[in-house]
Amino acid sequence: MPLKNLNDLLIQEVRDLYSAEKQITKALPKMAKAATEPELTAAFEKHLEETKGQIELLDQVFGILGVTPRAKFCKGMEGLLAEGAELLEEQEKAEPAVLDAALIAAAQKVEHYEIASYGTVRSYAEQCGFNDAAKLLQQILDQESMTNENLTKLATTFVNKQAEQGQTGGSSTKGQTGGSSTKGQIGSTSTAGA
Ligand SMILES: [Fe+2]
Ligand SMILES: [Fe+2]
Repeated sequence: MPLKNLNDLLIQEVRDLYSAEKQITKALPKMAKAATEPELTAAFEKHLEETKGQIELLDQVFGILGVTPRAKFCKGMEGLLAEGAELLEEQEKAEPAVLDAALIAAAQKVEHYEIASYGTVRSYAEQCGFNDAAKLLQQILDQESMTNENLTKLATTFVNKQAEQGQTGGSSTKGQTGGSSTKGQIGSTSTAGA
């Protein structure tokens, strides 16, 4: 169906997110199970519960927009989650702390996709005058940002350090040159897409 206006685009993007969240509820239990660090498992389990709640909030958003809740398959999320699944398949025997670091990286890519998308749809909802929908979308966006920050904290306070020790067991090969600080971790807060 051709998009006629921002309202149509808003509905389409919310349907994309509805699909993304449903895909995430299937992936998070596997990530929680694969994580070694109990705090990381707990973080994934907590976010699984939040994600289930987000699907209910999106049901309310659909109600406010006056359309039936329906998912439009999110290929972006499918790709991100496929990479995470591939990691778990290929790296069964990886050093546990390194696998934890990799799981955090995969999860943060998912969170950033969500942060960008929720920022965008929140702005669309505001522009279209759906203020109550905008508030619900902001509520979800805040949860995604908190999750992202929490993951950064786990990574930078100890998981990365443990992973580094795992890697350096045999002294010589240090993948990254240039000393301490190749900071992969996206520390900043809420960027909000639009
Ligand atoms: Fe989410
Ligand atoms: Fe999320």
